[in-house]
Amino acid sequence: MKKIVFLTGAGMSVESGFKTFRGNDGLWEDFPVEQVASHEGWEADPTLVTNFYNMLRKKLWAAQPNEGHRLISQLEADFEVTVVTQNVDNLHEKAGSTKVIHLHGELAKVCSSRDPYNPKYIRELGPDDSDIAAGSKAGDGSLLRPFIVFFGESVPMIEPAALEAGKADVFVIIGTSLNVYPAAGLVRYVRPGCPIFLIDPDDVGSGGYRDITHIKRGASEGMRELCGILKEMK
Ligand code: OAD
Repeated sequence: MKKIVFLTGAGMSVESGFKTFRGNDGLWEDFPVEQVASHEGWEADPTLVTNFYNMLRKKLWAAQPNEGHRLISQLEADFEVTVVTQNVDNLHEKAGSTKVIHLHGELAKVCSSRDPYNPKYIRELGPDDSDIAAGSKAGDGSLLRPFIVFFGESVPMIEPAALEAGKADVFVIIGTSLNVYPAAGLVRYVRPGCPIFLIDPDDVGSGGYRDITHIKRGASEGMRELCGILKEMK
């Protein structure tokens, strides 16, 4: 089976009701990224950060995957599929994708602020215990924090993601402005000769280092078009 690796960003979930981060009406317009998504912001005001992710988490339970998410998961019938996502929602999993690597964490989880990746202290939340009260503690006594990779922190999942990118027979980028590293650098691990597709309604600067076929559409429509192309590549 041929292997397809997807790299997805905020645009993937727009048709499911989530906002993108940058550009007009982006989330970072209303909530300064330095305050709610940086390591310094967390240190300065953990309550504000906790409340911000409580608010986002509420939207998560109501959100449904869109056709784009579903078409990606259906490709598992004919291809080996890995999804590398910058999104903290769980819509790829909800749509049925079985191999999802979250580069920037997961909204549905909270962790220890002292030892964020220690599985002992990672807790999965559900709709009934969605809100974290300010000052709540993790199992190790440190402040409980959202399981989100803040700016200024390392991105440990980039290593498995780069390994996957290096094994791809087809690489597909959907709905990311490719502004944030190391995620934006993943495309550099793709083998020479591996076709790269980009699905995004807008122009995205990809550094121009490789031929990229741009399907200039939203995620669902773009995925429909891509599935037609992939049929010939099975
Ligand atoms: P951005 O907001 O930077 O980019 C979103 C991209 O989605 C843009 O290129 C849009 O043109 C595109 N887009 C808009 N509507 C779309 C649609 N219907 N279908 C497909 N694409 C669409 O979001 P990201 O690149 O994902 O990190 O941002 C990367 C990281 O920056 C995020 O993971 C987040 C943020 O700060 C953290 O929170 C750690």
